[in-house]
Amino acid sequence: MTRSIEVLFSPVEFSALSQRNLGRTACVVLDILRATTSMITALANGAEAIIPVGEIAEALAIKQQRPEVLLAGERNGLRIRGDLTGGNDFDFGNSPREFLPEKVRGKTIVMTTTNGTRALRACTRAEPVLIGSFLNLRATVNWLRRELPLHLILICSGTHNQAALEDTLAAGALCERLWPYYASGQVADSAEIARRIYPLLQTDLLGAMKHSRNGQRLLGHPELRGDVYFCVQRETVNFVAGLQKDGTVRKLACEAPSPSGDATTV
Ligand code: MLT
Repeated sequence: MTRSIEVLFSPVEFSALSQRNLGRTACVVLDILRATTSMITALANGAEAIIPVGEIAEALAIKQQRPEVLLAGERNGLRIRGDLTGGNDFDFGNSPREFLPEKVRGKTIVMTTTNGTRALRACTRAEPVLIGSFLNLRATVNWLRRELPLHLILICSGTHNQAALEDTLAAGALCERLWPYYASGQVADSAEIARRIYPLLQTDLLGAMKHSRNGQRLLGHPELRGDVYFCVQRETVNFVAGLQKDGTVRKLACEAPSPSGDATTV
């Protein structure tokens, strides 16, 4: 069997996953600004699980059945407030800097965002579905190198209905590091595009964000601009997270430093 690697750049592509055979396919979902970075941060700070849902109404229905869960998410980048829920404000927006240890430790968080949680929901038939970010890039790469899924699809959540530069760069970083394992297989042009763009911009991810629609939007907002600085950090956490069959996102595997200082999967 021939390995394959492909990148989906935009929502119209990930929406079409429902028509595809996802047998023996791993997906990595990337929403660098900010949903997948927020999920990884919440888990790193001790959250038990994240439940990603597409719509506000789904989040509210879960809250009604399980009052102990916390609600997180945004519309137009801002925390979901009572005007959209019929009363109550969500506990968090979609800023990774909000998910502090004292607020999330031991908690389950139901999250709905414009693109990121929808991208995750679109690939539930794949196995595994990993949550990608620059924060846990190395751990994700090491996990994929070890498991070597036959088919690998990197899903960029995008901005509204368009491709997003920051997600494309993260897909490119994964492609570059996994290239030796997939280059002799079926390589989609989309993977080639992402792999070739990343080296051009990798030394200044923050500068690149000034050219991204989502980056510009967040940088222009005094309360949210710090998120961009946060989300372009690389290798700050050492675990892989994935979407489970029960619909929750949880930590899958941690890495520990080996005696030589290299990270090894445990
Ligand atoms: C999304 O899911 O579309 C994004 O995470 C939006 C945001 O930056 O809040």
